[in-house]
Amino acid sequence: MKYIFISMLFITCIIFASVYAGEDCSRKIGKAKAALLEAIDTLQRTNRLLGETGSAIPSNKVAFHARLTPDVTLGSAQTVIFDHVITNIGKAYNLHTGHFTAPFNGIYVFACTFLQTGGTTVNLQMVNNSSEISRGHAASGAGVAGSMNAVIYMKKGDVVKVRHYPGYGSQTINGNWSYFTGYLL
Ligand SMILES: *[C@@H]1O[C@H](CO)[C@@H](O)[C@H](O)[C@H]1NC(C)=O
Ligand SMILES: *[C@@H]1O[C@H](CO)[C@@H](O)[C@H](O)[C@H]1NC(C)=O
Ligand SMILES: *[C@@H]1O[C@H](CO)[C@@H](O)[C@H](O)[C@H]1NC(C)=O
Repeated sequence: MKYIFISMLFITCIIFASVYAGEDCSRKIGKAKAALLEAIDTLQRTNRLLGETGSAIPSNKVAFHARLTPDVTLGSAQTVIFDHVITNIGKAYNLHTGHFTAPFNGIYVFACTFLQTGGTTVNLQMVNNSSEISRGHAASGAGVAGSMNAVIYMKKGDVVKVRHYPGYGSQTINGNWSYFTGYLL
């Protein structure tokens, strides 16, 4: 949109400049150029202001970042629901189910950092629908953390989530020190 505006402005200015070119040519072109530069400056300032209020985020952007708040003791294959949303541009992350659903076909980047509560090991898995795309482990002992990363191509409607590694007995993941992040590349 911005570029259409700038191009229209530019064309208008060129037309003005050529209409007046017959008379005092260089003076009129100089005036048109100054007006054009001023208009570009105004557009850039407006764009920055809109950016600050967040209303100018393009509708094709997708990014989320969420924290787990309670300590959660996970059963086998239980989904970890990161319930506190910090960023959810494009609203593709669901804080009630812990699912990220790709709104468009594309390459997506995911990360998860987690802490165990002190005692049990924690084994997690990141899955796309039901196929594993990453796995992470936090060893037993006080304050040991684990992490997972993935970069995958997703089709619209595919789901990525973090879950307890299937087959393990109950393990506890530490609230407020565990995050799930993702974005469209
Ligand atoms: C995490 O932080 C929230 C808000 O500060 C607090 O209510 C909650 O008890 C904390 N969770 C844990 C497991 O400490
Ligand atoms: C993600 O899941 C979809 C649906 O099951 C599958 O078609 C696609 O190949 C998977 N991609 C990766 C990288 O696992
Ligand atoms: C992936 O899982 C989602 C949600 O369960 C489902 O809607 C979608 O059809 C699945 N995709 C494939 C290719 O199985």
